[in-house]
Amino acid sequence: MKTIRIVHGPNLNLLGEREPGIYGTTTLADIDAALRTHATDAGFAFDAMQSNHEGQIIDYLHEHRHATDIYLINPGGLTHTSVALRDCIAAIRVPTIEVHLSDVDNREAFRRVNLIRDVCVASFAGRGAGSYDDALAHAIALLAPDATTRRPEPI
Ligand code: DQA
Repeated sequence: MKTIRIVHGPNLNLLGEREPGIYGTTTLADIDAALRTHATDAGFAFDAMQSNHEGQIIDYLHEHRHATDIYLINPGGLTHTSVALRDCIAAIRVPTIEVHLSDVDNREAFRRVNLIRDVCVASFAGRGAGSYDDALAHAIALLAPDATTRRPEPI
């Protein structure tokens, strides 16, 4: 069975209460539950983790690199700052899809600095919790190219 894992970075544990005008009211538990249902219904093993600590995220990506077919990652603020996370994604050679709730390219200028995107195979942003749905649909399509799953266009 192929395995899809999702990694959520700093502050995403506060989804639901965190700046709801930007990030919506859906909680991380709700997002993960929906992803888990979709992935397992499609025949994949699924795991999710969240950490506020860069090193823990990197350790997780390392630890599971030989038992993961694709990673989805919302690196949160690390998107804009972390050479170490970028180097990790490049090093592990597990296909990785970037996800953001908000449209990071059309917010503050500092969010347009993106150290992650070009080491990822695709990127989905700006659709709130729907960005995760799009990213998972894309992951499933990549892993099961003959499947009839809708495959949204990455940004
Ligand atoms: C975010 C966008 C980042 O700029 C921000 O630091 C986050 C959340 C998003 O999902 O829209 O923490 O990754």
